[in-house]
Amino acid sequence: MSQEEILIAAEGDIADPGSKGLSVSIEGTKLELFIVKKNASIAVYENSCPHTSGPLDWTPNQFLDLDNNYIMCANHGALFEIDNGLCIYGPCKAQSLKKLAFVVKKNNIYLLL
Ligand code: FES
Repeated sequence: MSQEEILIAAEGDIADPGSKGLSVSIEGTKLELFIVKKNASIAVYENSCPHTSGPLDWTPNQFLDLDNNYIMCANHGALFEIDNGLCIYGPCKAQSLKKLAFVVKKNNIYLLL
């Protein structure tokens, strides 16, 4: 069975370091997600904090801390490693963001379902 691919962004739309939030509709269900890029490496996560299941961003497309070293939840300041989504500080320490599968083709990022 082949995987479905949904175009979610052009690679060049995301600063390095930087992040971008978006939502996609999958069979009528809305999925909130975000893309992070640092050192040319990309990761895609569901925009849902393990602490409360709420969104992480405090302002649109802002998912990184001020130093661009961690993903930061705006609600209670939890910090997550960029490459694997593991929480290393905050109320959900040792829990992880839900990582989403993706592929980059011809400078476009596709979510894999
Ligand atoms: S909702 Fe993310 S740290 Fe509380």
